[in-house]
Amino acid sequence: MVAAQDCLGASRCWQRRAARRARATSKLWSTRDERAGRTNCGGNGGCNGRCGDEAMVHKDVFYRRAKEEGWRARSAFKLMQLDAEFNVLAHARTAVDLCAAPGSWSQVLADRLPAGSRIVAVDLQEMAPIPGVDILKGDITSLATAEQVITRCGGDKVDLVVCDGAPDVTGLHDMDEYLQSQLLVAALNLAAFVLAPGGTFVAKIFRGKDVDLLYMQAEVFFANVTVAKPQSSRDSSVESFLVCRGFSVPPGYTPSMEANRTGALSTFLAWGDLELCSM
Ligand SMILES: C[S@@+](CC[C@H](N)C(=O)[O-])C[C@H]1O[C@@H](n2cnc3c(N)ncnc32)[C@H](O)[C@@H]1O
Repeated sequence: MVAAQDCLGASRCWQRRAARRARATSKLWSTRDERAGRTNCGGNGGCNGRCGDEAMVHKDVFYRRAKEEGWRARSAFKLMQLDAEFNVLAHARTAVDLCAAPGSWSQVLADRLPAGSRIVAVDLQEMAPIPGVDILKGDITSLATAEQVITRCGGDKVDLVVCDGAPDVTGLHDMDEYLQSQLLVAALNLAAFVLAPGGTFVAKIFRGKDVDLLYMQAEVFFANVTVAKPQSSRDSSVESFLVCRGFSVPPGYTPSMEANRTGALSTFLAWGDLELCSM
């Protein structure tokens, strides 16, 4: 998963860069790349030799800032930049963070939502505690997790659902895109069940041949759907984000936790309400 968007060798590359900088400042040696402000570990850091690329240097700006500012992942900047552009957090008092580990989006939510807001975070993986965040370990495609999310929300509808989920990357582009879209549909189904009217949904998508379909699926539920790519998302990454505002349940659709299991959501999305279509 991480390999699709982040350099697995980032910390090692960073350590090597720090060592090089120390050597360079001691005037023992420097390279053309270092003088240009770029370094490359030659791939030994697990980055396929790309850590000196412009894109990876760009990445490292946010990686370094995340370290300095205490965010668990550089992804925090993606949510903050989406918020700066679309103002998605301002009115939220209850939020669900799907696929939340290691937790930088939850940190942003805990930081930006007013004290006393209800925040539920879900991931397949364990997550270290974050004050003000209710953490749940589970698979967002499973019915049991959907039920637990709803219970943790106290049975109340929520203002905001965010999903930065990414499946384990297979390296096969079509397969990865398919798995990502399945995760998005699961997140959209859960959102359709827990969102209050007018609510907001922000989710990662992989740009690919099915992106128009995903966009249209979101438009079934939201008055306003935008695809955005925040500055902190690398240009070389296929990820973008759906920002969906103005949730409402479409005529003929009954939100159901069963939809993940039965595929009712995809069936509805694919065919719409046939009675309405014939009107
Ligand atoms: C890019 S990371 C999320 C980063 C997070 N937004 C942050 O800011 O720290 C993607 C996450 O999706 C999670 N994930 C993938 N499939 C999932 C599923 N079916 N259910 C729950 N979590 C899932 C992975 O475990 C991983 O932690």
